[in-house]
Amino acid sequence: MASVSTTHLVKMKAEGTKIVAVTAYDFPFARLADEAGVDVILVGDSLGMVVQGQKNTLPVTMEEMLYHTKMVSRGVTRSLVVGDMPFLSYQADVCEAVRNAGLFLKEAGAAAVKLEGGAGVSETIRAMVDAGIPVQAHIGLTPQSVHAMGGYRIQRDENRLVDDAHKVAEAGAFSIVLEGIPAPIARRITEEVGIPTIGIGAGVHCDGQILVMHDLLGLNLGYMPKFTRMFADLKGESLKGFRAYGDAVREGSFPGPDHSYQ
Ligand code: KIV
Ligand code: NA
Repeated sequence: MASVSTTHLVKMKAEGTKIVAVTAYDFPFARLADEAGVDVILVGDSLGMVVQGQKNTLPVTMEEMLYHTKMVSRGVTRSLVVGDMPFLSYQADVCEAVRNAGLFLKEAGAAAVKLEGGAGVSETIRAMVDAGIPVQAHIGLTPQSVHAMGGYRIQRDENRLVDDAHKVAEAGAFSIVLEGIPAPIARRITEEVGIPTIGIGAGVHCDGQILVMHDLLGLNLGYMPKFTRMFADLKGESLKGFRAYGDAVREGSFPGPDHSYQ
């Protein structure tokens, strides 16, 4: 299968083929998602929570994002790899934002970056696109703004959301993640903008879907939001494996002669 490009995603929208996206943070899971035919792999700053065990995404650094994006890129042959720009890597200054975005392509093997925000970051998106960096926008419930939103809240201001979507599309974004917004608003945005919408907690009318890998594989050890679903139980399987290993060592059935060098 040919590798997925940003223009391929726009074609999928036009043809009505759903875009399948997932997050991944390391080599083995990126390789498995790629092999399973996932179209887009996002190295999300959600890794701050699901991998690092922090309480939100704010502490994640550029260095950490590049490290994880490198591991993911090494596992991927077909999927489009998108690097997620961490808090404070693009908000303060447009030049700094372009430089940081470029590092995901230059050093970490990503083909695109994602950043949070609507009209307020459209100038930044345009500067990145002008520099040859494909950008995925992310509007609605934007976790880096958790303190400004007063918590992780569904965003319902239709006029603002629609305006944000148009502004990021006009700025040259190749796609938009719609997170935590009512389905009818996501439907309207999906119909009005020319670029593909990727939903998470945004209803059934988006051009594609993204989930956090740990949620869908059953590796989320904390709160499971309403919009997600466990498609496998790796937590249960992992506990089984660790316990079986512990039992075998304790009872002396592992290692056995087959695992020993004479
Ligand atoms: O960091 C992340 O995983 C994300 C997706 C949920 C869109 O931004
Ligand atoms: Na993110």
